[in-house]
Amino acid sequence: MSKDIDLSVEFCGVNFKNPFLLSSSPVSNSAEMVEKAFDAGWGGVVFKTLNSGRLSIIHPSPRMNSINYGNQKEVAVQNVEQISDRPLKDNLMDFLYLKKNYPDRPIVASIMGFFEEEWAYLAKVAEDNGADMLELNFSCPHMSIEGSGHKVGQSFHLIEKFTSTVKNSVSIPVMAKMTPNITDMREPAMYAKNGGADAIAAINTVRGISQIGLDDWVPKPNVFGKSTVSGTSGPAIKPIGLKFIAEMAQCKELGLPLSGMGGIETWIDALEYIAVGATILQATTGVMHYGYRVVEDLIEGLSDFMAGRNITKITDLVGKALPNLQETENFELDRQGVVNFDMARCIGCGQCVVVCHDAGGQALDWDSEKRRPLPIEEKCLSCMLCQFVCPVQGMINYKEMPNSWQRKETAVRDSGVEKDVKYEVFNKEPPKVCSD
Ligand SMILES: Cc1cc2nc3c(=O)[nH]c(=O)nc-3n(C[C@H](O)[C@H](O)[C@H](O)COP(=O)(O)O)c2cc1C
Repeated sequence: MSKDIDLSVEFCGVNFKNPFLLSSSPVSNSAEMVEKAFDAGWGGVVFKTLNSGRLSIIHPSPRMNSINYGNQKEVAVQNVEQISDRPLKDNLMDFLYLKKNYPDRPIVASIMGFFEEEWAYLAKVAEDNGADMLELNFSCPHMSIEGSGHKVGQSFHLIEKFTSTVKNSVSIPVMAKMTPNITDMREPAMYAKNGGADAIAAINTVRGISQIGLDDWVPKPNVFGKSTVSGTSGPAIKPIGLKFIAEMAQCKELGLPLSGMGGIETWIDALEYIAVGATILQATTGVMHYGYRVVEDLIEGLSDFMAGRNITKITDLVGKALPNLQETENFELDRQGVVNFDMARCIGCGQCVVVCHDAGGQALDWDSEKRRPLPIEEKCLSCMLCQFVCPVQGMINYKEMPNSWQRKETAVRDSGVEKDVKYEVFNKEPPKVCSD
């Protein structure tokens, strides 16, 4: 392990010894838990969303369901958990305890109010009791009350109003945590910025239905015969998180620092979030799967990667992949390729031939005597399905074929497909949106 790599980052003027934070959830529920996480190496915490005490919180039971795929456990987790059920006073005393005993680990207080005074109150008491930063929870996925949770995240004027209320109440930096249950996060993020947000955090869980009980027809988690559309987290949502972070990072008008999360379980996941523009990272499901010690892998992997490439600070990696993330119209379509087989390593399972025939270009014949695929290059679509299913790592690779695009162009022309088909534009009223 590369011990002398400095993973420290500065985010909105707050210093983190490494970019790995527990995200707001059961993994950051009490000082006792967070203390254990800090001892394991986590750089900071976003505490479980504070409850002002106005609502008495009773969590549904059971509150989660794990989506397993084959032998892989917790590919995603579905939860119907609410905000903190602990008294506000207990949570604030925990802040003071952690501040005293771990002064180098920033505490981000996650808060959620229902009206301006409540937002202001929670922000102020969090600041007064040692929070270094605030995260505004505009994104709890299963709030049914208007003006709360993800419903705020979808009502952009409320984002601006509540952010501005909080900003006017405290002097510590304020981060808005956005819901992924929208199409484009740049717009609500701009409203948060207009309200004074110093940073954006994304993503909270994605609203979904993970599994249906086929004996009782109750979706899971089955809360005594009932379920609800609720929050999906974990590796399955990583592509969605990366997309939202990348789009916001590319938005020059927004220009705010970003905290990325959604499916971070390995140092590679973490590095991918950094590469699309996140400076600090958060995780829950990874901890719910592997425990706090998962941070050792995150720290070691990222350190070794940086040492191997002589990268001395994380900020040199932030947004590295963004210049290559472009609109499809900028693709060089005159460059094409085919798959290339290292036949000496083939084990003759024939899986590549099956998928090529049923879902690809039908570009593989089968030598049944030798039990080997016979590639027909001119039919290859470079869809790469054969590589995806091949059990031998690195046996099937992509190979660029100079001038092969001419062949594909000719194929399209010869297919007789009319190039300039005219599409009729329907001039109709948009359909009514369901109001309940
Ligand atoms: C059981 C559970 C409870 C959560 N509670 C909160 C919460 O109180 N406040 C909040 O902002 N996010 C909450 N989250 C969302 C996480 O902080 C995080 O945004 C989400 O799980 C995506 O990250 P992950 O894939 O690493 O879990 C919760 C997630 C889970 C799984």
